[in-house]
Amino acid sequence: MKIFVAGATGAIGQRLLPQLIARGHQVTAMTRSQAKVEPLRALGAEAVVVDGLDAVAVGEAVARAEPDAIVHQMTSISGTADLRHFDRWFAATNALRTRGTEHLLAAARASGVRQFVAQSYTGWTNARTGGPVKTEVDPFDDSPAKAQRETMAAIRFLEQAVLAAPLEGVALRYGNFYGPGASDALVDMVRKRKMPIVGGGGGVWSWIHLDDAASATVIALERGLRGIYNVTDEEPAPVAEWLPYLAKVVGAKPPMHVPAWVGRLLAGEVPTRWMTEGRGSSSEKLRAATDWRPRWRTWRDGFRFGLTESSQPPARAA
Ligand SMILES: NC(=O)c1ccc[n+]([C@@H]2O[C@H](COP(=O)([O-])OP(=O)(O)OC[C@H]3O[C@@H](n4cnc5c(N)ncnc54)[C@H](OP(=O)(O)O)[C@@H]3O)[C@@H](O)[C@H]2O)c1
Repeated sequence: MKIFVAGATGAIGQRLLPQLIARGHQVTAMTRSQAKVEPLRALGAEAVVVDGLDAVAVGEAVARAEPDAIVHQMTSISGTADLRHFDRWFAATNALRTRGTEHLLAAARASGVRQFVAQSYTGWTNARTGGPVKTEVDPFDDSPAKAQRETMAAIRFLEQAVLAAPLEGVALRYGNFYGPGASDALVDMVRKRKMPIVGGGGGVWSWIHLDDAASATVIALERGLRGIYNVTDEEPAPVAEWLPYLAKVVGAKPPMHVPAWVGRLLAGEVPTRWMTEGRGSSSEKLRAATDWRPRWRTWRDGFRFGLTESSQPPARAA
C-alpha cells in the first residue's frame, strides 16, 4: 500500500515506519522539520515537510503522494507535563486532533484516499463507574476533571470525524504507551520516588508497548478495519500493582504512599483520579477481529524487558 503518515517522527511513528517499510509498504512521512528529512529517507520513506495545521500544505502533500491510506499520529505532548493545567498542556495536541484531523480528512476526500487510521486514546477517558475494565461500547467519563474537558472534547471530535467520513475510517484507542522514548520520564520519576501511590492505588491502567501499538496499526491498515478499537495489553492492572513492580524492575525503592487528599494537594485532581478511580480497557474486540496479539501481553514482561532499546527480551513473552 501507499501510506501517508502524519506524525511519522513521534514515539509511535518511529516504531511504525520500520514495520510498514519491512512489510513492503511505500511510506510518505510528514514532519515539520527539514532536519528530519534525511533520517526518514534513510529508513526508506519519502519525506515531506508540512505543518499539520496548514490545510493547503497538507492538501498539496497528500495530493502529491497519492496514498491509499492516511495515518494520523500527530500529537504535541513532548515537553514539560502540566497535569494541573492539562488542557493548556494539551492545547496543541487538541488542535491537531480537531483542525489537524479535519485537514487530513479534507485532503483524503480531495485525493480519493480510501482509508484513514487515526490515533485516539483510552484510559482516563473511561467512565469511572462500574467494572474495572471497559470496552469500546462503554461510555466516556461524562464528568472529566475540569482541567481535561477540552482534551476530552478533542478526542470525541477526532473519533466522530473519522467515523463520519466517507471512507474506511478507524480510530485506534491506544492505552498508555511505554517503551523506548515513551517511558523515560515515568521511570525517572519512579527512580526519584516522585511518584507515590495515591489513596489505595485502586485506579486501573491499561498499558501498551509502542511496538505493539505499531503492529496493531499495521494490521488495521492491512485489514481495512473500520470503527473504534482499543489497543491495549491483556492485563489491565491497578496502580497498586504495576507501580511497585515498575519500581522493582528499574531498581528503585518502593513508591511512597500518600492519602488521596494529599495527592490532590500536591499534584491536583487529574493524577489523583487516575490513581484512585481510573478504569482499564480491553482489546478483546481487536483480538477477535484480527490475529493481532501484543508481543508484550502484559506490562510485567514489557517493563522488565521492553522499556529501552538495550533491554534483552526473551524470544517471545509467553
Ligand atoms: N497513548 C499514549 O500514552 C500516548 C500517545 C501519544 C504520545 N504519548 C507520549 O507523549 C510523549 C511525546 O510524544 P511524541 O514523542 O510522539 O512527541 P509529540 O511531540 O507528541 O509529536 C508526535 C508527532 O506529531 C508531529 N507533530 C506535532 N505537531 C505537528 C504539527 N503542527 N504538524 C505536523 N506534525 C506535527 C511530530 O512531528 P515533527 O515534530 O517531526 O513535526 C511528531 O511526529 C511520549 O512520551 C509519548 O509516549 C503517549
